[in-house]
Amino acid sequence: MTHRLSVSRAARLAGVSRAVLQAKISRGDLITFEGKVAPRDLMRVFPDIDLASNTELDRVTRIKENAFGKRIRERVLPNPEVLMSRLRIATQALAISKIKLARVERIINNLEVLYLENTNKTNGANEKLSENALKQIKEFLFEEFNDTGLDRETAPVMAKDELLKIMAGQVTLSPSGKEFFVSGNDSILEAALGAGINLNWGCSNGNCGLCKANLLSGETEKIAHHDFTFSEAEKASNTILMCCHTPITKIEIAAEELGLSTIPRQNIKCKVKSINHLEPDMIELILQTPRSKRLRFFAGQSVGLTAGKNLQRDIPVASCPCDDRNIQFHIRQDDKDEFASYISHTLKPGDTISIDGPTGEFIYDEELTGAAVFIAIDTGFAPIQGLIEHTMAVDNAASIELLRIQAPSQKPYLDNRCRSWADALDELTYAVIPDMGATDSAIRQLLQNKPAAQIFVAGPTSSLETLKTGQSLSKQNVKYLAVAPSGYLESN
Ligand code: FES
Repeated sequence: MTHRLSVSRAARLAGVSRAVLQAKISRGDLITFEGKVAPRDLMRVFPDIDLASNTELDRVTRIKENAFGKRIRERVLPNPEVLMSRLRIATQALAISKIKLARVERIINNLEVLYLENTNKTNGANEKLSENALKQIKEFLFEEFNDTGLDRETAPVMAKDELLKIMAGQVTLSPSGKEFFVSGNDSILEAALGAGINLNWGCSNGNCGLCKANLLSGETEKIAHHDFTFSEAEKASNTILMCCHTPITKIEIAAEELGLSTIPRQNIKCKVKSINHLEPDMIELILQTPRSKRLRFFAGQSVGLTAGKNLQRDIPVASCPCDDRNIQFHIRQDDKDEFASYISHTLKPGDTISIDGPTGEFIYDEELTGAAVFIAIDTGFAPIQGLIEHTMAVDNAASIELLRIQAPSQKPYLDNRCRSWADALDELTYAVIPDMGATDSAIRQLLQNKPAAQIFVAGPTSSLETLKTGQSLSKQNVKYLAVAPSGYLESN
């Protein structure tokens, strides 16, 4: 039987994103059978697969993390216990394969004897084969057994696949069928969030029990102690806490994914991690939630911030849930605005700010796998940044098109970050349009070349109205978010 690989695993082996592999499948460049890829076909399309590397072969993830300019996850081996468990499973499988092979070889070698023994046992009920026929069968079987030509071709891919299984566990979520990998010392929960999957969870340290999942197949290892106790029924149904377990084999779990209607309203006191001046008039505020109470939200959503003596603003989040405990915001420096002035002149790292939320439906639809277009006008870039990071993490968009509209005299803030995304990812293009007047035709041209499955536009209400009256976005699947030049939601 031909060994076949899931699309996620094949993409990982080839060192490309899942979206790139999906595009090759849709174009008919890469053949699949029941949604799976044969190693030989993968090698035909990607003849340069780096088979010699013995490091974690996760080029795309590394590029993305570098491009994000954020926390670079340490490329560490799984902890020794997890590594030993995965090696134990791999060596057991190897031992069983060796025993089976030796048995097959013995059967072929002794074909005549075994056949005659069986014939005697059945009192000659077996049809008698001539000596010559037995000889021919034996020769044929030996030929097949020793024909390693094809195996030799695909063996390096399979060997790399086995190595990847030791370096990272593979998880399939039921019922959605989403797949992700768990690298290093990550828990299942951490890896799922990093892959843009919004699972239900609360404390991330084994107390609340919200991250319960049923282990449907495979084995996991406990990597952290938990105080939460399971009921007898939960124990009987193989329940695990995703924040305290990591896979040691390929696993399938049934776990609750959050939707817009099930995400709870949260009030969280956060610490200020840093206040950075991106440009003389643009502040990047980074808050950090407590370890035991992180914000559950969808990329593109907004929250209410309360700072100082009850200064409040509603503001889009500029990061995605995949960015660990960090929550980013973009605020225009303006001494006439009390909130902005407080952030700029009074607030310091370590101070407390309250978050209330999330709100809003400016979110990515993962069911739509075509091109995703993002149009950011001025500080409308904040929610767009979170959405792009999420789209990269989910890795299912055929392409990502980012347009920023900025007056010719101004460079868009975080321009270098956008350029680094475009440099790192073949499927992402970035362009700056110098004024609103040129926007309609630029969008029309873009959509002519790459029909979009979903379009996101964020910026001041006046600019959104201009775009809505143009031709380019009519009859398109567009979501709009009004963000004032201050960085706050327009309703403020
Ligand atoms: S998130 Fe609370 S126990 Fe796992």
